[in-house]
Amino acid sequence: MITLGFNYSQMHDSSACIARDGELLYAVAEERLSRIKHDAGFPHLAIRACLDFAGVRADQLDAVCAGWPAPSRMILSDLKSFAKGEFPISYTNVLNVTRTFVSMAHQNGGFNLFRHRFGPTKAQMRFVDHHLAHAISAYSYGGFDKAAVVVMDGRGAWEASSIWYGQDGRLDHVLTIPWPNSLGLFYAQFTQYLGFVPNSDEWKVMGLAPYGSPGVNLDEFISLKEEIYHVSAPLLFESKNGTSAIAKRLGPERTPESGIDDSFKNVAFAVQDYCENAVQALVKLAIEKTGCRNLCLAGGVALNSKANGKIQASGIVENIFVQPAASDDGVALGAVYAPYLDGGGRLPMKPMRHAYLGPEFSDAEIEKALLTYKLRAVKLEDVAATTAEFLANGKIIGWFQGRIAFAPRALGHRSIMADPRDPEMNAKVNNAVKFREWWRPFAPSMLKEVAGEYLEYACDSPFMILTNPVRPQKRDIIPSVTHVDGSARPQTVEKDINPLYWNLINEFGKRTGVPVILNTSFNLRGEAIVNTPTDAIRTFFSSGMDALVIGSYLVEK
Ligand SMILES: [Fe+2]
Repeated sequence: MITLGFNYSQMHDSSACIARDGELLYAVAEERLSRIKHDAGFPHLAIRACLDFAGVRADQLDAVCAGWPAPSRMILSDLKSFAKGEFPISYTNVLNVTRTFVSMAHQNGGFNLFRHRFGPTKAQMRFVDHHLAHAISAYSYGGFDKAAVVVMDGRGAWEASSIWYGQDGRLDHVLTIPWPNSLGLFYAQFTQYLGFVPNSDEWKVMGLAPYGSPGVNLDEFISLKEEIYHVSAPLLFESKNGTSAIAKRLGPERTPESGIDDSFKNVAFAVQDYCENAVQALVKLAIEKTGCRNLCLAGGVALNSKANGKIQASGIVENIFVQPAASDDGVALGAVYAPYLDGGGRLPMKPMRHAYLGPEFSDAEIEKALLTYKLRAVKLEDVAATTAEFLANGKIIGWFQGRIAFAPRALGHRSIMADPRDPEMNAKVNNAVKFREWWRPFAPSMLKEVAGEYLEYACDSPFMILTNPVRPQKRDIIPSVTHVDGSARPQTVEKDINPLYWNLINEFGKRTGVPVILNTSFNLRGEAIVNTPTDAIRTFFSSGMDALVIGSYLVEK
């Protein structure tokens, strides 16, 4: 059976993936191909890339699965929320809901566009409930036979959070907290209040939070009632004469790109703190309901690595897996397996040990790009050793190798790397390369073998999605990847999964005694992570990187 899964909602993060006989072959976010960050358009480039990689035509597919229900079910849910007064009936809200419905219904959720672009097919076209798709993306790839599965996002069709119980390749629904009682909505509205882009810049709030202090009371907006959180959506949506309820209570909104005073830092602290408590409550409830302490997480809120790290540190769970593509791009990974549940069937259980599922480019293709731009490049005999030498000498390196990861984070295949021992390196990379906010921390990649030496909670953390305190005695050793609160968001690198990257870090360790490097995504601020050699070359020459290691080649400025 060949199945194709995609995410398309006109909201954000369109994507596609393809699986043959339960084996995931390829997955890519549309933004990496179109170069439009969080691209919300129909993922025709991603689908084309999936078909090309698998060597199949659309008419050879058995099923094409969207990670959303039919548009008619979506609008029914919105109408109910309007009727209950949970979602204010304003001109903008009604217009947006109607416009999205008309457009999605006309396209039949994207299936009409699929046929138009890729030709007729006998494939079954199916809608998969959004949270079920997220839940499969967490459970099927988590590696646990039995698991409590928690999905938390901004919104599904009618869902905001849900709990599932995975057992023997099947998923039982336990409970759903309906939209708009949504943690994602709560976080997004405050992200906007703090002058950032909602449903995109939540990372910035999370990074800013440790600079704030406790004391801001947000009980009116979110409360923990008994064992479950409650978000006051009507209040969060409220706006009178252009002033939101948040601004009315906490002061004027921050102007984007302006300075950040302590009051905003304190709000960020509170938002993160309330979010962590709510996530913790939800996870406790999931464990109680399922009686299982293996936890799988997905949904955009599960990208909150600080909240995830706290769960891990709390000891309430035994094992944790967070789907690295936790946001809506990841529903493609769930939708693609949904047909396996038909007739009481079982999901393929495929523990995800890496996320390198996207396009890759051969040395011949890289050479062609280097020739096109008339660049002087040296073919390296030992890529890892030479790059490690550069890093040890304080150089900032662009690193382009292998298949691009299906995840929002750089996982060592499209990365900007530097020496984490230099306390100034954070500022150097920020100012010269990333042009991003000063408070956003950089993350370390480290050999899996040394994780216990550097981190409080030794763990397998291949996806940079679990924050972990750096051991106090190591904080001065790797200052540029240790956040102000002493935490880090590590990637642990395994030799058999990622030999070249492991070798590079090992070579750096041989030279410096510290087998850890600073790793951030290969992109400029506001742009998608580079995909092709041309993207990499363009980004390299638009920034202050010192050298580019691309395939077997070295390009220096
Ligand atoms: Fe979602």
